[in-house]
Amino acid sequence: MNKEILTSLAAMGLICADYVYAQPATFDIKTEKLHIPMVEVVLKADKVGAFEVEMQLVPGDAVSDFTISKVTPLDSISSTDEGSSLVPPAPNGIVLPEGYKDWRIVAPSHRTDNNTLRVILGNDAAIQAAREGKTNPWPDGAILAKLVWKDASLETWSAATVPGAFVHAEFMIKNAEQYAQTGGWGFARWLGTKQKPHGENASFVQGCFGCHTPVKDNDYVFTQPAILP
Ligand code: HEC
Repeated sequence: MNKEILTSLAAMGLICADYVYAQPATFDIKTEKLHIPMVEVVLKADKVGAFEVEMQLVPGDAVSDFTISKVTPLDSISSTDEGSSLVPPAPNGIVLPEGYKDWRIVAPSHRTDNNTLRVILGNDAAIQAAREGKTNPWPDGAILAKLVWKDASLETWSAATVPGAFVHAEFMIKNAEQYAQTGGWGFARWLGTKQKPHGENASFVQGCFGCHTPVKDNDYVFTQPAILP
C-alpha cells in the first residue's frame, strides 16, 4: 500500500524521493473510499511534505486496488535538517523532545513478563532533581524518557542479556499547569526506529495515565533513581 501511494503521488508530480510516514488508513464501506489522514513524503533532498490522501476502490478489482482520487497538502513543508522535524508529533500535539539520545541515565530496568530491557533517561532538569532527591513532585521542565529494546543474548557470552530490536521511546514531560488533567505529566510515545507516533487520537494518554495511577503518591513515576557512589 505505501509503495502504491508513493507511485501515485509521483505520477501526480508531487514527489521525487522517499515515503516517510503514513497514519493508519480508514476504509468507508459505503463510498468505497480509503482515507489516509496523513502521508509524509520527501519532496526534494531536504524537504518534507504532508498530504491527506483519499483513494477510490477500483470496481471489480481486488480489494487492494485503489486509485488516488484526492490529495490535499497539509501543513507547511518543512526542512529535514532540523533533526526531529521528520518525526510527526504525538496525537496530543507533543513533539519528540530534542536531544533525548544524549540525556543521562536515571535507572535501567528489565521486564521479565515481556522480555524487554529499558533505560530511563532524564533531561538536565530531571537529572538534577534526581541527584538532589527532589522527585516528589518532580519540578516543572523535568522530562523522563524510557527507551525499550527486546532482550537479546550476547553472542560471545550467552548469559548476558543485551538490547536487541528497538521497541519504542516514550516520554513524561512535567508541567503541573499544562498537564493538570493527567497528574501534571504530558505523555507521548514513538514506535520503533521509524518513530511512528503511538495512539489513534489524543485519548491514548488515558492508557498511560491509568497505568501510572497506582504510583500517584510517587508523582506518577515508577522509577527509583539508581544508587550511585
Ligand atoms: C501497563 C502499564 C503501563 C502503561 C499502559 C504505561 N506505562 Fe509507563 N511505565 C509502567 C511501568 C511499570 C514503568 C516502570 C518500569 C519500567 O517499565 O521500566 C513505567 C515507566 C515509564 C516511564 C519512566 C518513568 C517512570 O514512571 O518510571 C515513562 C517515561 C513512561 N512509563 C511513559 C509511558 C507512556 C508515555 C505511556 C503511554 C503511551 C505509558 N508509560 C504507559 C507502566 C505502564
